[in-house]
Amino acid sequence: MPKIKLINIVGARPQIIKASAISRAIRVHFSNDISEIIVHTGQHYDKEMSEVFFDELEIQKPQYNLGVGSAGHGRQTSLMIAGIEEILLKEKPDCVLLYGDTNSTLAGALAAAKLHFPVIHIEAGLRSFNKLMPEELNRIVSDHSSTLLFAPTNAALKNLMSEGFRPENAPPYTINNPKIYLTGDIMYDNTLFFAELAEKKKAGFLNESGLVKNNYVLATIHRDTNTDDIERLKEILLTLKELAEEKDIVVIMPLHPRTVNTLKTRLKDFYDDLKHCSHVKIILPVSFLEMTLLEKNCRIIVTDSGGVQKESHFFKKPCLVLREETEWIELVNNGTAKLVGAASARIRKEFLNFMDSDTDFKYPGFYGDGKAAEFILSEILRLF
Ligand code: UD1
Ligand code: UDP
Repeated sequence: MPKIKLINIVGARPQIIKASAISRAIRVHFSNDISEIIVHTGQHYDKEMSEVFFDELEIQKPQYNLGVGSAGHGRQTSLMIAGIEEILLKEKPDCVLLYGDTNSTLAGALAAAKLHFPVIHIEAGLRSFNKLMPEELNRIVSDHSSTLLFAPTNAALKNLMSEGFRPENAPPYTINNPKIYLTGDIMYDNTLFFAELAEKKKAGFLNESGLVKNNYVLATIHRDTNTDDIERLKEILLTLKELAEEKDIVVIMPLHPRTVNTLKTRLKDFYDDLKHCSHVKIILPVSFLEMTLLEKNCRIIVTDSGGVQKESHFFKKPCLVLREETEWIELVNNGTAKLVGAASARIRKEFLNFMDSDTDFKYPGFYGDGKAAEFILSEILRLF
């Protein structure tokens, strides 16, 4: 019988990908010590936003899927809390593992902490310092409900300390006496593990997508600030289209369903024009292995995604961040990521700088040694 029973809560695409690093480390190193139950809130549910990752990344199917689906923040989060609470009361796990900053993270944190199950937060301490962002509220509440907090970067660890978390706390750790760690990033573990596999398993993918290595730009857009405000969304897309035509380069965009919904319902004519532009390829969301290949072989990345920003660094690609601030501040300080918001002039300036630059950018190892998941699990075992 494994020593501890851990509940792993996922819901949104990036959490499923992150959970694969933990599941793999349990399988390879801790299968005698840790048993894992996966709870999927159902926040993401399209095949290409959920199921594809379980299949491709070999994660066990969730034992529970709450099927919550899309709704406003209040309704979505409350349905998740109620569903998770029931599962926790039935399963009585030793601890609850949460990733990142989505509504699924928040729901898991509140449900578990209020029932006094220890919460373990992976990707703790990240802050944008913009509380208008739903994710910022989710991060703060989740961190302050946790017993073990795994910060991926120095900046994240410092943020926790400035909110009163003390590195000198001694065991036994509890929600009132939490432990903070610097771990590195489990997504770096994943990139190291899957990058080569992607080359093997998806050998024809670039070709089939009509892409030539180093001669395309990869763009993703899904943040609420960029998709709910159609003027911002239009400005971003129009600027990218014009730049692609001007530089005779393809921009490929595996678009999040949220963005496609906005385009279809609120910018229909513009969307139709865009689809006819030979320099712009809008496609469905891709699998993680396909995304890995797109990132590895592109010229520049343009994104408002947290995960994709970091992956730009893993693959040594310059990155334009379609936001006013970022939690991954080391990338901006390094000069290889530029905050451009949604303003045409700023996107254009930094895009052309990166396209025309022959600077040999450096990409230092900000994100650990690729063994963050192993470290996290061994620390969890020490707690029990
Ligand atoms: C959520 C997270 C965000 C994260 C992102 C990862 C919150 C508050 N936000 O944003 O931090 O970066 O996931 O991708 O938790 N939709 C579909 N099919 C799906 C999923 C979503 O069509 O499978 C559409 C629905 O119209 C839905 C919209 O996308 O209303 C937004 O989905 P939601 O999960 O609420 O937020 P995300 O924008 O995905
Ligand atoms: N991703 C993917 N397919 C896509 C777009 C993204 O596999 O079509 C992966 C990407 O490589 C990264 C993660 O999804 O690992 C990022 O998720 P997302 O951008 O949805 O959310 P965020 O990181 O901003 O929370």
